[in-house]
Amino acid sequence: MADDLLIGVIIDIMLYILYSNQSKRGIFMGERKRDKILGIRTVGMREWAFNKVHYNRYEATPYKALDKLAEDYMFRDVDRIVDFGCGRGRVVFYLHNRFQLPVVGIEANHQTYEEAIENKAVYSLKAKHITAPIEFKYGLAQHYKIDKRDNCFYFFNPFSVHIFRKVVYNILRSVEKDNRTVDLILYYPTHEYKDFLETTPFTIINKIKVPRAIDKKDRFIIYRLNETAWEE
Ligand SMILES: C[S@@+](CC[C@H](N)C(=O)[O-])C[C@H]1O[C@@H](n2cnc3c(N)ncnc32)[C@H](O)[C@@H]1O
Repeated sequence: MADDLLIGVIIDIMLYILYSNQSKRGIFMGERKRDKILGIRTVGMREWAFNKVHYNRYEATPYKALDKLAEDYMFRDVDRIVDFGCGRGRVVFYLHNRFQLPVVGIEANHQTYEEAIENKAVYSLKAKHITAPIEFKYGLAQHYKIDKRDNCFYFFNPFSVHIFRKVVYNILRSVEKDNRTVDLILYYPTHEYKDFLETTPFTIINKIKVPRAIDKKDRFIIYRLNETAWEE
C-alpha cells in the first residue's frame, strides 16, 4: 500500500514536470483559464500506479470539445447526468454551470476523487445561485446503482469494454424497470465500445465532430434508447 502511494506520488511529480514544461509552451494555458473561471483544477493526467489493465488514466475532456457538445446536444431534455469515471470533475462542473443540471460523478481513484471534492468546495462558492445538486461518489462505475432519474450517461474512455459492458447492462436493467428514454454520450469512442453497442438496443442519434480536430476519434457519438423501444 505504501509502495502504491509512493509510486503514485512519483508518477504525479513526473507528470507535473512534463505538463508544467508543456504549459510554458502554451498548450494548457487555455484550459487553465477555463478552469479558473469555474474555480476548479482539472488540467493534467494521472496514471494508475499499478498495472490496472481495465482502468484507464485520468485526463479531462478538452473544453473546446465540451463547448461543441453543449451547442449541438439538447442538454435541456436531461433530468440527471452521470459521468462514469468523472476524474477531477470537469464535465460535471461544466454542465452544472452551463445548464444548471443535477449531476453525478463516479470516480474509482481515491486521490482523484479527493481532488474532485476539493474542486466542489471552491466551485460551490462561485455557483451559489445554482440549486441543482452535484454529487461525487468514490467507487467503481460498475457498482453504481442506476437511479431512475438518471437519463444521460457520459463516458470519456474510462475503462475497458469489459467494464463498459457491465455498466451498460446496469443501465438497460434500470430502463427495463423504470421505462424512460436514455442517452449515452461517448467522447473519443473506441472500436470496442462501438462494436459492443451494436449488439444492444441503443442506436446512434448524432455524431459531433470537435472543430479543427486532427484526430478522427476526436468526436462524440450519441446513442439513444427510446422509451418506446420496449413496446415492440
Ligand atoms: C479519461 S478520464 C475522464 C475524466 C472525465 N470524465 C472527463 O471527461 O473529464 C477516465 C477516468 O475514469 C476513472 N476510472 C477508471 N476506471 C474506473 C472505474 N472502474 N470506475 C470509476 N472510475 C474509473 C479514471 O481514474 C479516470 O479518472
